[in-house]
Amino acid sequence: MPEILPDLQQKIAGTLEILHRSVIEDTPVTFASSLGAEDMVLTDLIYRHVPQIRDFTLDTGRLPEETYALLQELRSHYGRAPRIHFPKADSVEEYTAANGPNGFYSSVALRKRCCGIRKVDPLRRALNGHGAWITGLRRDQSVTRNALVVREWDSVNSLYKISPLADWSDGDVWAYIRAHGVPYNRLHDQNFPSIGCAPCTRAISPGEDIRAGRWWWELAETRECGLHWPPSPGEQL
Ligand code: ADX
Ligand code: SF4
Repeated sequence: MPEILPDLQQKIAGTLEILHRSVIEDTPVTFASSLGAEDMVLTDLIYRHVPQIRDFTLDTGRLPEETYALLQELRSHYGRAPRIHFPKADSVEEYTAANGPNGFYSSVALRKRCCGIRKVDPLRRALNGHGAWITGLRRDQSVTRNALVVREWDSVNSLYKISPLADWSDGDVWAYIRAHGVPYNRLHDQNFPSIGCAPCTRAISPGEDIRAGRWWWELAETRECGLHWPPSPGEQL
């Protein structure tokens, strides 16, 4: 197995300290997993070292087959897998009746409305009753994330939001995955560094930004789904 360099060993120790401290200060704590590469690092650390932390994933109903395969693989690899939360069926039915199944391509507003129904509303329900949630966000993922702090009050959902990988690089994430033989989404081997719903994610070309394949038809500044970007006042979710 590849060796882990001292700099990364320090980051791993720092991440574990943040996770352990959060359990002491914020219990119950839950981890929101998209099953992307960063989240597989956190899954491995939590399952092996801090198993008191709960975990869940939001199944939008539009995930790629490779993500479901990974969700299944976790059961055999760790004997544990995140709890799955679904969107409300009547909201999805209303949206698709009004806009069609792929209405999100028509405008940023309709795209955000779809994310609101399929991700943000289920997220609120999944976070209910917890003192903190853990995310796999990193600062260098995009222009929308470069001011990310490790621990902040999430005033939308009324609990702490903790991003223990904030200062990890993409190289750190993959060094950890390779060194520990962590299962990962096979789409990452096909130039998908960031993976969300199938219709809103595509492969990137060499030299492109790592989130360039997410909602690629929009400007970089709008490319957040609302999980990490509170809606502007008056915006409907
Ligand atoms: S997104 O907002 O653009 O979709 P991204 O895919 O970069 O987010 O993931 C950032 C973090 O948001 C993940 O590390 C995870 O904590 C959370 N997240 C994103 N998608 C999901 C999901 N489907 N289920 C649970 N958590 C998610
Ligand atoms: Fe809908 Fe696309 Fe958002 Fe998924 S990423 S919830 S399909 S708009």
